[in-house]
Amino acid sequence: MPETGEPDSAPLLRLALGFGGFKTMAAALDLGLFQLLAERPDQTREEIAVELELAERPADVLLSTCVSLELLLKNGELYRCSDIAAEFLTAGKPRYSGGLIRFFDRRSYPEWQHVGTALRENRPTTMDTEHRNGRRTVEDEQRIALFWEAMRAMSGSVGRVLTELVDLAEHHKVLDLGGGSGSCAIELCRGHPQLSATVFELPHICPVAANQIRAAGLTGTIDTLSGDFHADPGLPTGYDVMLLSNILHDWDEGRDRELLRKCLAVLPSGGLVIISEMLLNPERTGPPEAMLLSMQRLIETEQGRNYSESEYAEWLADTGFTDIEVIRFTALGANGAVLGRVP
Ligand SMILES: C[S@@+](CC[C@H](N)C(=O)[O-])C[C@H]1O[C@@H](n2cnc3c(N)ncnc32)[C@H](O)[C@@H]1O
Repeated sequence: MPETGEPDSAPLLRLALGFGGFKTMAAALDLGLFQLLAERPDQTREEIAVELELAERPADVLLSTCVSLELLLKNGELYRCSDIAAEFLTAGKPRYSGGLIRFFDRRSYPEWQHVGTALRENRPTTMDTEHRNGRRTVEDEQRIALFWEAMRAMSGSVGRVLTELVDLAEHHKVLDLGGGSGSCAIELCRGHPQLSATVFELPHICPVAANQIRAAGLTGTIDTLSGDFHADPGLPTGYDVMLLSNILHDWDEGRDRELLRKCLAVLPSGGLVIISEMLLNPERTGPPEAMLLSMQRLIETEQGRNYSESEYAEWLADTGFTDIEVIRFTALGANGAVLGRVP
């Protein structure tokens, strides 16, 4: 390329068009492109256009763009899914994450239109604030379904990774605080047959978890308990593991420290608390996906933001937990966990 004295603007343009990459992926998912190529790989543009009922021009642009985004591979005239699309964007695969993409597309994307207001006014701009803060009981069915579809993909991934990486052999009963649809508890109990679990949730969420537990065939192993971990004076006893998966990021430090104190108060000696989150690095400068989810917390919550592994480690130590350990991993719903034990 000839020297022009012009600074390289490509990184800026790529960042500025980040929304385009996302919307292209979401549209391709909705059109069924990845599903089609997962079921019948190595098709030509013409064949794909016929299947998806697209005219030649949009089919051409979409397929080439998906190749540039590394969602598709092109070999000669034939297209197939890349590893990312095959693993995460194909229904029926264990790590299928289409629900999360749809959630970001239908809910988060419009909400980010108001990010400037959230920044200037230090308040959430989503319509769903009351639900997230646990006060709302009647919800629009489609919105709920979308939220839980996304959550299932995220917390299932966390449960699978925690099952592999955390030594739970000596533990027996898990209280999954704000366990949502129960996906995390389901994976933990599948991976550790000696474990049983309780999904502790707001009353209107318990039936969501109960349905999923039933569908997983784990009704005798996992139950639900309705409660409010902030308003209730204490947490239920009889558990030796407290799981906080994507809970603390919704609240401020004071509330989080209080919840950790409540955990310590009911855990036995040797009991374990697991904080699983999209953790920031100790300098709180990244990684970008954790920072962007922190921005999302500004839009969605009154007090939340993502915290660093060092912040959680410090809160656990201050609360009285010992043997604090940070484990890092890659999962859709978290990039690490901070563990603490009761002395
Ligand atoms: C971001 S979701 C995390 C769900 C799940 N733990 C996961 O990892 O996917 C937060 C959950 O906390 C629940 N929650 C919020 N406030 C709560 C409260 N005061 N008591 C109990 N659960 C609460 C919400 O209903 C929601 O399911």
